[in-house]
Amino acid sequence: MKRVLSGIQPSGQLHLGNYFGMMSRMIHYQEENDLFAFIVNYHALTSIQNREILRENTFSAACDFLALGLDPEKSTFWIQGDVPQVTELTWLLSNVVNVGLLQRSTSYKDKIAQGVAPNMGLFSYPILMAADILLFGSEKVPVGKDQKQHLEMAQDMATRFNNTFGDVFVVPEPDIDKETQLVPGIDGQKMSKSYGNTIPVFCNEKTLKKKVMSIVTDSTPIDEPKSTDSPIFQIYSLFLDKKEKKELTNRFKTPGLKYGDVKKEIFNRIWTHFEPFRNKRNYLTNHSDYVKNILKEGAQKASAVGDDYLSRAREAMGLNY
Ligand code: ADP
Ligand code: TRP
Repeated sequence: MKRVLSGIQPSGQLHLGNYFGMMSRMIHYQEENDLFAFIVNYHALTSIQNREILRENTFSAACDFLALGLDPEKSTFWIQGDVPQVTELTWLLSNVVNVGLLQRSTSYKDKIAQGVAPNMGLFSYPILMAADILLFGSEKVPVGKDQKQHLEMAQDMATRFNNTFGDVFVVPEPDIDKETQLVPGIDGQKMSKSYGNTIPVFCNEKTLKKKVMSIVTDSTPIDEPKSTDSPIFQIYSLFLDKKEKKELTNRFKTPGLKYGDVKKEIFNRIWTHFEPFRNKRNYLTNHSDYVKNILKEGAQKASAVGDDYLSRAREAMGLNY
């Protein structure tokens, strides 16, 4: 039984990239692993500086995770800011991480290029993420490809700490799935909240239809075979098993396929796939006390594990006298 941990920022509407890249795999892992899942509201402060929005997004992200199948009986589920020990560990790790490593962060460089203010929170984002992972002895971290460099930094910090102060931390392994590591958005770029190109998991029928209908396609004439190396094929494939994917490949290779028909099928597939989850989510959003109670209990469980690793790190560094 492995400790599997991952988190998601409450920075906007959950989309298919988040779901297939991380969340559905986490939910699957909870059956045979010790799953730790959390909503990273400290990290979200790097992009959201509005009290109401952060509060609403945080609660909403918690409802998403629970609605999609995270089972609090099997897993530990909490809000990052309810276990503030992680900020102390961030400081401890700040003393083993090289500034050059942080300066090479592609995610930091991208954000700055997008015009985000280069504050210290944004710069030290990877240290807080490493603390998230190391505080709980995580062995495996399911994420999408965009988080690979952050995971390498966490490995670097764990190794440097252990080499300097003695073995305290588990060196985590990223868990990136080839099939779902980079879900394309409706414009063909990586699907991301910050690019405005997402297909949300939970939205109304009209919005979903509009989004799916606007997936980019090429101008191959109807009577020619179509490319399977395209966002429309890749997005549809997320919902298909092996046999269905083969059938879709054949349809793409056979002249006559109309993109408009395929889009209608994709819409129906997505809408029905999430139907039961939508109902559960409606229930949860109307029962906030129930949700908050789960999160409170999760924070207590996470705190107990975190306290143990933190006190060992403090001891190893000579902070206890
Ligand atoms: P976003 O880029 O939309 O802000 P987050 O940074 O909140 O997404 O990502 C949450 C999780 O979802 C991470 O594990 C991330 O790697 C994964 N993820 C995000 N976008 C994609 C994508 N397009 N394909 C696969 N995984 C993704
Ligand atoms: N940086 C991750 C993202 O944007 C979120 C995150 C924060 C995370 N702490 C984590 C993911 C720890 C895995 C483990 O998606």
